[in-house]
Amino acid sequence: MNPQALADLSSRLPELRLLTEPGDLEHYGRDWTRRWTPAPLAIALPASIEEVQGIVRWANQHHVAIVPSGGRTGLSGGAVAANGELVLSLARMNRVLGFDVVDRTLTVQPGISLEAVHTVAREHDLIYPVDFAARGSCSIGGNIATNAGGIRVIRYGNTREWIAGLKVVAGNGELLDLNRGLIKNSSGYDLRQLMIGSEGTLGIVVEATLRLTDPPPASQVMLLALPDMDALMQVFALFRARLSLQAFEFFTDVALKHVLAHGAQRAIDGDYPYYVVTEFDATDERAQEEALSVFEQGVEQGCIADGVMAQSDAQAAALWRLREGITESLAAHKPYKNDISVRIGAVPGFLQEIQALLTREYPQMEVVWFGHIGDGNLHINVLKPASLADAEFIAQCEHVTKLLAETLQRHGGSISAEHGIGLVKRAYLESTRSAAEIALMRGVKVVFDPNGILNPGKLFA
Ligand code: MLT
Ligand code: ZN
Repeated sequence: MNPQALADLSSRLPELRLLTEPGDLEHYGRDWTRRWTPAPLAIALPASIEEVQGIVRWANQHHVAIVPSGGRTGLSGGAVAANGELVLSLARMNRVLGFDVVDRTLTVQPGISLEAVHTVAREHDLIYPVDFAARGSCSIGGNIATNAGGIRVIRYGNTREWIAGLKVVAGNGELLDLNRGLIKNSSGYDLRQLMIGSEGTLGIVVEATLRLTDPPPASQVMLLALPDMDALMQVFALFRARLSLQAFEFFTDVALKHVLAHGAQRAIDGDYPYYVVTEFDATDERAQEEALSVFEQGVEQGCIADGVMAQSDAQAAALWRLREGITESLAAHKPYKNDISVRIGAVPGFLQEIQALLTREYPQMEVVWFGHIGDGNLHINVLKPASLADAEFIAQCEHVTKLLAETLQRHGGSISAEHGIGLVKRAYLESTRSAAEIALMRGVKVVFDPNGILNPGKLFA
């Protein structure tokens, strides 16, 4: 890179905030993976679409790679800048631009947090239904880049169902206004959907119009203790058949141990290998009786060992904490994260197979299972033993991920359900997408980003 490049950027965009202090480079150069040493060239914090376009045009001229950056809560290394890239942080573009009561849409800048979107939607007696534990720190732009899922997918689907329109700066600096909030638009390729989940490799989201919806009916939260792995999908089938589910999440006794050690409160006495937190519509007494009757049926059938129904909002929050607190409770153990999915119908056979695989391959390591079992999405976290060096630990985990990817391929699953491919899962993309698909994806990348300046190395090398 031309050493004058940064000076040229400042002279083209005199108002642009640029950071080059080592502390800032470190802070903005990494995400939650913590695996790579941050080494960006500088951090740009644009305040307008025009500044984003100016940065992208400058990057094309000087051949500087750009890493688009939101809340950096990603778990796949999609926002890592470890090779002299310019981090383009959207943190300052975090405003609500408008609410449309007739269309029931909220137009926002990409740097706004998911939690702030929830709050604004509530002020209009509506909800934005995508939700997950990182809500306070992640940004909508990042959610769009990874097609984020979370704990309500079973009822509402992923981020891509809720994006009515996107403004995007493409790799050549051109501004695209995609779908413009339309519900019906049968006019050719849906480039908005192509952008969602593209991990910052095709364009930079500079504005998003989000669909909002009615709040769900009153609900109940239950924690269930299960005797074995087979019971998981039996209980799911039972509950789904008779209740209207808003969430159905699971975790193991190992996850429970960590979350309790991290300050959560035990809700069921005794030790059980599997737990489920489920939330379902319960508007009146009859619905609550139905829930209890489903619970009793599960006990009679032997697939539920124990359970507790929340008696207050505070207790519901405490039960949810047992599930939502897991990621934070594991962070100090430098977990190697797998985020995989198969069709719901394929879950039982797949679970049996990977349990055998992981027991065989990780005899000395602590493996923590949790996730969105009702969507066929499992998070399998392997914890680093204190005695093992980081590099050796990752090498051992990658060997197992290769085997896991082969198993996934046989079951028609995905190596990334909701976290994205980024750097972490790049080597395994072929297990989920065919060679023909990857060739087309590469072709699309060249069309949107001819000089390859947008998040190079992420998704594919
Ligand atoms: C979750 O479901 O808690 C998130 O995807 C985070 C994680 O996998 O650690
Ligand atoms: Zn998750």
